[in-house]
Amino acid sequence: MHTGDAFPLDRNEGRKGEKIMERNQLGQIVAPLTDWYHENCRRLPWRENRDAYRVWVSEIMLQQTRVETVIPYFERFMERLPTIASLAACGDEELFKLWEGLGYYSRARNLRRAAQVICEQHDGQFPEEYQEILALPGIGAYTAGAVSSIAFEKARAAVDGNVLRVFTRLTQDSHDILDTRFRSQVTEDLERIYPPRQRGDFTQSLMELGAVVCVPNGEPRCGECPLRGMCGAYGSRTQLCYPVKKKKAERRIEYRTMLVLRFQDKTALRKREGRGILSGMWELPNADGILDEQQVLHWLAERGFLVREVKAPEDGRKQLKHVFTHIEWHMACWIVTCENEGTCHDFTWVSDAQLEHEVALPTAFKKVYRECMTKR
Ligand code: ADE
Repeated sequence: MHTGDAFPLDRNEGRKGEKIMERNQLGQIVAPLTDWYHENCRRLPWRENRDAYRVWVSEIMLQQTRVETVIPYFERFMERLPTIASLAACGDEELFKLWEGLGYYSRARNLRRAAQVICEQHDGQFPEEYQEILALPGIGAYTAGAVSSIAFEKARAAVDGNVLRVFTRLTQDSHDILDTRFRSQVTEDLERIYPPRQRGDFTQSLMELGAVVCVPNGEPRCGECPLRGMCGAYGSRTQLCYPVKKKKAERRIEYRTMLVLRFQDKTALRKREGRGILSGMWELPNADGILDEQQVLHWLAERGFLVREVKAPEDGRKQLKHVFTHIEWHMACWIVTCENEGTCHDFTWVSDAQLEHEVALPTAFKKVYRECMTKR
């Protein structure tokens, strides 16, 4: 049970008489928020029904990815893999093609692993118990809470960045939202006020308010907010002071040289090895560091390539950048016309059509391929 001492509410500085949402008054938000949701919620494909499979897949796709981006991916995924069993049986190439461009491919692998577990251990039926859901690969507290409440009407909260923003503004709470203890506390506080028979809607209304009204990046749309009258941050005009997030470690920059090797209108790909970023995915051949033309020729000679031409894309040596969560790649690119397939057997040669339609090539490499092919 939470005590006020562990997480004291910040006081509303110098604005006596303003309304502040105290934690024990949090229940006041339920009715106005769910009423607002019923009137204003966006029609989204995963809201057409509350099937657990659909809720689960949508929540995984929506992690780190915008709603507008997810919609076509979700629709295509459901069309191709309409059941848990079909996902469990899906091969790598199809799975990654369905995921291509969404990034964080471990999400797709975990989805399939979880589908296999559901088939093996739960007779192909999505489990209803929170702890069983949480035990599935790739499912953390947020997703387990979302599926439990939306698909199974359980009083489980789904606390993500949107919900934390709403919560910390309402209650003017300056705890670091990256602190897992604080997140658990918010989860507990919310679960205490979950309304019977509207649990799924309450979860979605919190998410929705955070996504469309109490927005990140810029002024929130307080004029449209059903909770304005009880919001501490609105009352003290401190909306932009919340949520408080400790500065993250800076991203590491890695310099790499990417090669688009062409032979008979095909491009060389290979599978990434090891356990690091994008492991097991297709990649363009590449090397550590920024290589000049001589160094590229040496790299090619070592692998038995006979080379007709090595060129940088038209606008010279511009480096392309691709940003991952903890790493940034700065990539030099070379397009190489080969006279043979080389002598090492790491490479798979694919046509342009295969590369567009069949092979899932992560976005960092796709960017390089497109840049090289359009600016030859
Ligand atoms: N963001 C995360 N989950 C969401 C959902 N179910 N609907 C809309 N936006 C979301």
